[in-house]
Amino acid sequence: MRRTYDIVIVGSGAAGLTAALKLSQYARVAVLSKGSMDGGSTKWAQGGIAAVLEATDSLTSHIEDTLIAGADMCDKDAVQFVVERGRNAIEDLINLGVAFDKASHQNEDGYDYHLTREGGHSHRRIIHAADATGMAVQKTLNERVKEEHNIDVFEHHAAIDVITNKHLTKPGSYNDHAHGVYALNIKKNRVETFSARATIIATGGSSRVYLYSSNPDASTGDGIAMAWRAGCRVTNMEFNQFHPTCLYHPDAKTFLITEAMRGEGAYLTHKDGTRFMPAYDERAELAPRDIVARAIDNEMKRLGVECVWLDITHKDADFIVSHFPNIYRHCLKLGIDITTNPIPVVPAAHYTCGGIQVDLKARTDLNGLYAIGECAHTGLHGANRMASNSLLECLVFGRAAAEDILETIEDLPPAAIARNWDESQVTDSDEEIVVSHNWKELRQFMWDYVGIVRTDKRLERAKRRVDLLNIEIQEYYGNFRVTPNLLEMRNLLTVADLIVRSALLRKESRGLHYTADYTDLLEKTSDTVLIPFGRAVSDRVA
Ligand code: FAD
Ligand code: SIN
Repeated sequence: MRRTYDIVIVGSGAAGLTAALKLSQYARVAVLSKGSMDGGSTKWAQGGIAAVLEATDSLTSHIEDTLIAGADMCDKDAVQFVVERGRNAIEDLINLGVAFDKASHQNEDGYDYHLTREGGHSHRRIIHAADATGMAVQKTLNERVKEEHNIDVFEHHAAIDVITNKHLTKPGSYNDHAHGVYALNIKKNRVETFSARATIIATGGSSRVYLYSSNPDASTGDGIAMAWRAGCRVTNMEFNQFHPTCLYHPDAKTFLITEAMRGEGAYLTHKDGTRFMPAYDERAELAPRDIVARAIDNEMKRLGVECVWLDITHKDADFIVSHFPNIYRHCLKLGIDITTNPIPVVPAAHYTCGGIQVDLKARTDLNGLYAIGECAHTGLHGANRMASNSLLECLVFGRAAAEDILETIEDLPPAAIARNWDESQVTDSDEEIVVSHNWKELRQFMWDYVGIVRTDKRLERAKRRVDLLNIEIQEYYGNFRVTPNLLEMRNLLTVADLIVRSALLRKESRGLHYTADYTDLLEKTSDTVLIPFGRAVSDRVA
């Protein structure tokens, strides 16, 4: 089946839907999600969105805090670009209907929203909807998108690959252009062709490559792997952010305890109640995430314990319940009353700072192909993303991509005709165990060898295993019909390969990349930019 649109957007999180809403005023848009519309990370965001929203704060301060957290690796132009557009992005959301928490009084600027604080921020500048900001944002965006006649949403459609010139029936005079995507219609179990004049990848991050992660199942780095296979550069994949405080409980699969709790005064402690963060950093619990996660990892290894504790019991119970209602309810269900008991926590993979290389218009290396949100590398986060800068980046770059497409759409070629997906040479798999086994193995060794503390030896061990699994999965992919699990496994392996290769190239410890072999900072540093060679697309077209 072939469908044709002006623009195809892969991903229905904050980034994808922001772009869709801007584009739909002038163009026909398809939005694909491999699960339900709210299957990505956006829905799970807790703390909020960082922006300069009151007179006591300043753009300069937000920029400086971001640069400091990014450990000298942020692109200053990108930081300025995003921070300057923060207020507008928030006002857009308010106009769309997101109900952010109000403060008890107006601030000097006439704004009456409650602002909280998180690690690395020198001001209160996080606007939020209690401790479930992502839920409020995703729900509002979903509602607005459903009202738009120009947007068709395709849930349970997993994009497989970007359609490039080589997939066209008549490649003609196109020059390195993207023409849409092939996607598996999961419910009908068939591959469909989505042709478009412009294509946006908004598929979120890849933190599910690790055994323990705060992310939902969808975060398998599909867009990064697709763009890489299509010939785009991928940058700084070694900077994987581990959130310091995920709930440690046998019945909690992936549940985050927001950094805003530390922003409101919670302490990190050992079981006996003693704090340890002041010994690591003068900012103590509000040091940037890399420092806090590494300190926890170190304490756990030093004492041989399975978790540390986050304690907010010294605050008034009403304050705790009203600021963190979601966390309060969730923990209570598991038998932890956070108003009277400390919360057991561990670090978990949380955010992919690297990604598809883009410019300030979200353009990738392929004409007509854009990347926005967590899958993109804009230069905003450098070696360590500051808390609550991610949703902001999704909003700002979602808009930037839409604006560039609308400005250039007249110059874009009409949607081209791609060859049909060919399944004549493949059969149904008779050994799904290959995928499920490799899946477990990959996540386990990525956690053990490519986690919070790395060494060359561990990375080389991981590389050998990635190479081996890659051979098996490529062979499997060549012989059997695609399934959602196979597609994700193939993408996770590509992403693991990119992470390990990038990590091996960085011979220093900076930001989120810490290696026991090179503990110092290099005086001169640069981005780790991987360039695809050979364009190794596994073709499956007639
Ligand atoms: P996502 O919201 O992850 O959406 C990805 C979309 O792509 C989904 O619709 C998915 O179905 C789709 N998709 C993926 N692959 C395919 C494919 N092959 N085919 C079709 N569709 C596909 N950031 C903040 O700024 N503030 C916070 O308070 C905050 N809290 C967080 C709390 C948690 C628990 C987590 C996990 C993250 C948090 N973050 C926070 C980070 C932030 O939520 C994410 O970085 C951001 O939501 C990513 O948005 P996105 O639009 O790029 O992707
Ligand atoms: C949190 O609420 O701690 C997550 C914030 C973020 O990841 O930006």
